[in-house]
Amino acid sequence: MSFNNIFDAHAHYDDAKFDGDRFELIESLPSKGVCGIVNNSVDLETSKISISYAEKYDFMYAAVGYHPENLDNMPDDYLSRLAKLCEHKKVAAIGEIGLDYHWDIDRDLQKKIFIQQLELAESLKMPVVIHNREAHGDTLEILKKYRPNALVHCFSGSVEMMREVVKLGMCISLGGVVTFKNARHSVEVAKEVPLDRLLLETDAPYMAPVPFRGKRCDSSLILYTAQKIAELRGMSVQSLLDITAENARRFYSI
Ligand code: NI
Repeated sequence: MSFNNIFDAHAHYDDAKFDGDRFELIESLPSKGVCGIVNNSVDLETSKISISYAEKYDFMYAAVGYHPENLDNMPDDYLSRLAKLCEHKKVAAIGEIGLDYHWDIDRDLQKKIFIQQLELAESLKMPVVIHNREAHGDTLEILKKYRPNALVHCFSGSVEMMREVVKLGMCISLGGVVTFKNARHSVEVAKEVPLDRLLLETDAPYMAPVPFRGKRCDSSLILYTAQKIAELRGMSVQSLLDITAENARRFYSI
């Protein structure tokens, strides 16, 4: 049985793991049911690369921004440079931006850069893609204060946090983690999240779903994530793909 309308709300095809076959792989995806991909960026250089993919392929879009792990050597005028990139018609969001407390990175600096990018998004009326790793409390506090039109990607919080995010009018995306054995939180969230707020993603090349866990991930593998979530919710895989693709198009205004 074949499926369509697989929309990958968050991927990184600029990653070195795709160096050997990047364009061949991307070009094979529509025949596997993939209808859209938003390539997320981590700094100015990758933002330009994401835009180049979006220019090359109709079904690809770019999110541009500074990831909290990439704050060394940022140019002083990075905000105006990002703003300039956002004028491109295939830049669909500012992302990925946020907080990462897993690594020892200056937290005040992370918050400052996160907030500056939220303010830029607000001024440009752009949606944002949020990275939150082990920083649930501070992320939620900032989201409550700034109220961006946000997608909290690779959502790793509890059901309670998901409800708070949804109450703020925001969306979440789920990836391969939901298929992992120890994914109690993600499974509960996948069952409980309102269907109109759920997007699917890979975070490719990372987070490949079971049975490909640990291998390189690509957007076609969303099917395995979708199968798991559809089973949890007692619905058909194709209707889950249809609804989440529509949600992605609405969120990114594409
Ligand atoms: Ni990512």
